[in-house]
Amino acid sequence: MTNQTRNALAFGLGFAGFGFATLVLRWYVSRPETKPEIASVAVKTVPVDVFDLVIFGGTGDLALRKLLPGLLRRYADGQIPEGSRIFGVARDALSDDGYRARIEESLQKLVADDALLDEKLPAFLAMLHYFSLDATKEDNWDTFAASLKSSDDRIRVFYLSTSPALFVDICNRLSAHGLNAEPARVVIEKPIGKDSASAAEINNAVGAAFAESQIFRIDHYLGKETVQNLLALRFANALFEPLWNARHIDHVQITAAETVGLEKRASYYDTSGALRDMVQNHLLQLLCMVAMEPPATLDANAVRDEKLKVLRSLRPVVGDAVSQLIVRGQYKAGASNGGAVPGYLDELGRSDSRTETFVALKAEVANWRWAGVPFYLRTGKRLPTRVSEIVIAFKQVPHSMFDADAGAIAGNKLVLRLQPDEGVKLWLMIKDPGPGGLRLQHVPLDMSFAEAFGVVQPEAYERLLMDVVRGNQTLFMRRDEVEAAWKWIDPILAAWGASADAPKPYVAGSWGPSAAVALIERDGRTWHEDAT
Ligand code: BG6
Repeated sequence: MTNQTRNALAFGLGFAGFGFATLVLRWYVSRPETKPEIASVAVKTVPVDVFDLVIFGGTGDLALRKLLPGLLRRYADGQIPEGSRIFGVARDALSDDGYRARIEESLQKLVADDALLDEKLPAFLAMLHYFSLDATKEDNWDTFAASLKSSDDRIRVFYLSTSPALFVDICNRLSAHGLNAEPARVVIEKPIGKDSASAAEINNAVGAAFAESQIFRIDHYLGKETVQNLLALRFANALFEPLWNARHIDHVQITAAETVGLEKRASYYDTSGALRDMVQNHLLQLLCMVAMEPPATLDANAVRDEKLKVLRSLRPVVGDAVSQLIVRGQYKAGASNGGAVPGYLDELGRSDSRTETFVALKAEVANWRWAGVPFYLRTGKRLPTRVSEIVIAFKQVPHSMFDADAGAIAGNKLVLRLQPDEGVKLWLMIKDPGPGGLRLQHVPLDMSFAEAFGVVQPEAYERLLMDVVRGNQTLFMRRDEVEAAWKWIDPILAAWGASADAPKPYVAGSWGPSAAVALIERDGRTWHEDAT
């Protein structure tokens, strides 16, 4: 079996449940007693080869909140083979045991809720090791390299969960110590630059030490279950593809709303803002998955070639068009998660920041399939609820034969919910059940993945980390994709930089500035609100 076939197979297994899931699609009905029993299926895991994983930034927020909990879950599920090693690397002076104690403490909450994780924790902690390294100094790098080389030619993954300012030094040292040879892999986290020029610098530096086939640029949104189900939905069903174009689709909405504010990330976030933090990567990647042409195979480059074409087809938004098509906002004090919260500037402790915490925009994919179909994207902090979803809004029927008192006919919508309750809803018009005339109702054919499968889906990072070990780049961004996305973002940043206008204020706990509502309503459309 070639690597390519193996990768495609492993990737395909992730989708295998979807066909089954369609069997448990259920009509949404309000009376609970009419709801059918939902069957459950086991999640399949395919063990990976033995590996060494080095996390630069091993005591940092991402390592503690996402990477190590994710690795523990994969280990507990039997996906990580015995003999694998995980190295935390940071500047602090810590022993292996000191590191294990720190990680154990941070995993306490997770394992307290799960007996299996609790049981597996001691063996997982024994896989952890620690190295105190400074990327800018040579001390200890020899010992570190020797320790890695002691494990023959196994897969080595270097996860750069550090400031991008350190990427060059880390890559140079890995290369100088001969740690960059195949089958080594390097994972880089966003932000990959602040604009095209800085992204190219980072890519050049990492590319000087590692071949493109060894570089995994992570966008954790691509690891979310529903995003991959979008591939299954579009390309494993004959139903949607004939409709997936400007003739039948009225518009697309992509929302990534968060209730959190700065979360102690002020120094990063204030230099980034929502456009760089969410739109340049997560939202544009989702847009690509919706808009791309069917790739011939699931091979990483086949998929990435198609996404790249979408990014290159985005109609540039430049000059005056920026203020017409893009709304930026910044939250003021308000209420969130049931309590009063301060405004962005108070949270930041500065009064002069123009960093946007909200963006809503209207984009167009200027190609044959999508000409004239608006893609409305919005994301923000301190919004009323945490929800990420993609809405495909179909066109109206051309003519209604029903009486006016049957009610209005709403367009069909396919709603892919990424979080919190992952699933798919297909909104249809049906006849209101029972006698008494023919009235119409808009109801969702509803499939919640958690209900349908009776399992908790793995977190995005868990899947992506295992994909790195397998060498499967399908869900990772290629260099040209990152740069093409920046090319679309650059003129927007330039127009904002040149404008005297500040971001529009919005009250924390609201859906952003009123201009974001006007952006879509002036086209005669509304943001999707799920009533159920
Ligand atoms: C990160 C951003 O990439 O994604 C954060 O830097 C954001 O600002 C996070 O909070 C959202 O991820 P998720 O998976 O919680 O939607």
